[in-house]
Amino acid sequence: MLEIKNLHARIVDDGTEIIRGLDLTVKAGEVAAIMGPNGSGKSTLSYILAGREDYEVTEGDILYNGQSILEMDPAERATAGIFLAFQYPMEIPGVATMEFLKVAMNEQRKARGEEPLKVPEFLKRVKEAAASLSMDINMLKRPLNVGFSGGEKKRAEILQMKLLEPKLCVLDETDSGLDIDALKIVSEGVNALRSPDRAIVVITHYQRLLEHIVPDSVHVLYKGQVIKSGDKSLAFDLEANGYAGVIGEAA
Ligand SMILES: Nc1ncnc2c1ncn2[C@@H]1O[C@H](COP(=O)(O)OP(=O)(O)OP(=O)(O)O)[C@@H](O)[C@H]1O
Ligand SMILES: [Mg+2]
Repeated sequence: MLEIKNLHARIVDDGTEIIRGLDLTVKAGEVAAIMGPNGSGKSTLSYILAGREDYEVTEGDILYNGQSILEMDPAERATAGIFLAFQYPMEIPGVATMEFLKVAMNEQRKARGEEPLKVPEFLKRVKEAAASLSMDINMLKRPLNVGFSGGEKKRAEILQMKLLEPKLCVLDETDSGLDIDALKIVSEGVNALRSPDRAIVVITHYQRLLEHIVPDSVHVLYKGQVIKSGDKSLAFDLEANGYAGVIGEAA
């Protein structure tokens, strides 16, 4: 579903190369975890997948269902079913969360050639999804993410993901800032989205999240490259021994 081949990317402003020959394949149905030290390029990779203009791909390719997405703008990627939950979700003042959800869902439907949702059906879906994440429906009347606590923002991301039913989901440190109960709720939300026709990429620092969302594969990102891949036992190994061994092996 997702094939990243020898990707090189740099910051447009100053030309610094952040992604340096990254290879990663994630199949449909797979949950892949990306781990790696601070500053290794994990969030940058998610921005590049989203199509942020601050980064420029200089070499390699990103294939989504066999097609390059490099020429697609962020909106086209979203309607194609690519969803990114960022480490620091953006605040959108002036747009009620509810309204944002409605527009986003109907854009997706339009792209699939479906009619916009009728209001009662939309409300029903939002209420169900919010309840499953233990979110107060009144919160959705507030502007998206504005004044939301860290954990509330993360839940709001998962709520969007549930409602938009994307095919490729990338979650950047969705566990950071979540309390113990929220971690469970959010993990259950992600697990509920596991499906043979969907791929999920989870960026995390901690084995703890992976106890709830058990990954099929684990990849270590370091200095803009995947330096080691393995199964979930790799995450246990990293938790116990840190990154030094893996980095040493790759050097
Ligand atoms: N726009 C930018 N300008 C300057 N440096 C940048 C920019 N974007 C990314 N970087 C640098 O690229 C490197 C990778 O950053 P990135 O946020 O992708 O790391 P990360 O692996 O997500 O780290 P963390 O685990 O701390 O979230 C860092 O050294 C960061 O400072
Ligand atoms: Mg990051």
